[in-house]
Amino acid sequence: MSLLSLFRRSQPLTAALLLALATGRAGGADKVADGSPAIEARMTAVMASPELLGAAAEAGRRASQFCVNCHGESGLSQHGHVPNLAGQHPVFLLTQIEKFADGRRQDEFMTGLIKVLKPEDRFNMAIYFASQSVPVKPARDAASARRGQQLYARACVGCHGAQARGQKRIARLAGQQPEYLVRALDNYRTGKGRKDPVMTAVAKGLSNGDIQALAAYLPTIP
Ligand code: HEC
Ligand code: HEC
Repeated sequence: MSLLSLFRRSQPLTAALLLALATGRAGGADKVADGSPAIEARMTAVMASPELLGAAAEAGRRASQFCVNCHGESGLSQHGHVPNLAGQHPVFLLTQIEKFADGRRQDEFMTGLIKVLKPEDRFNMAIYFASQSVPVKPARDAASARRGQQLYARACVGCHGAQARGQKRIARLAGQQPEYLVRALDNYRTGKGRKDPVMTAVAKGLSNGDIQALAAYLPTIP
């Protein structure tokens, strides 16, 4: 889901409320924490205003100079095991950042790194990466991709969406790096590094062949 479509869909807010939310003065929104309704409201308010969105994205771009070493310019990764951040929902990105920070999610690169980020930087980076677009990739193995497509339609589409673009706390899978997808599904399946009640249950039902097929298909979705 693009920020623009979120912007179109979001409820109109009065200018004063919008400003209060966006500057963190309403409802204790100065604490950037995953799961907080205040932070989600602030995110919605920022996304509803092209001006605030532009300012947050620019601050996020400046703050993320270090991240792009691994995640790539504009959040498009050049490494199979490093996820694209581009095009994810900003709430999803912020949620995952908070999970790394408090240990619910673990990774040798991300865990230490994320702890030093200021709450404001986390917020702005999530906005910046979310506002970048993801290019389409051709299938490397067409037969496997077709099998992945059928499996996706049966088991994943209900949550991740017809175009695999996710929403809020649900990940975008479209255009994601194949090796990363394999690793993420395997981590849920084994409980190593990543636990989520829903995804753990889903992943336990997948064979290695299913995971390979999904990883062949998902990167080809724009
Ligand atoms: C040394 C390389 C490296 C750097 C630098 C790095 N990352 Fe990561 N990042 C990774 C890897 C690898 C993963 C996947 C971890 C896993 O498999 O669970 C990841 C995962 C993530 C995720 C989860 C994405 C998803 O789809 O679930 C977010 C969000 C993220 N990084 C944000 C950042 C931010 C913000 C910065 C800069 C402060 C940053 N990363 C810097 C390597 C890096
Ligand atoms: C009932 C809803 C639901 C279903 C069905 C579902 N997912 Fe998920 N998925 C989620 C949620 C929620 C998350 C975020 C979990 C977290 O925070 O770790 C997620 C995360 C993921 C991630 C991690 C992506 C990333 O960038 O971090 C992958 C990969 C994934 N799902 C693949 C799948 C596949 C493939 C299927 C079908 C076989 C599927 N999911 C079915 C809800 C669902």
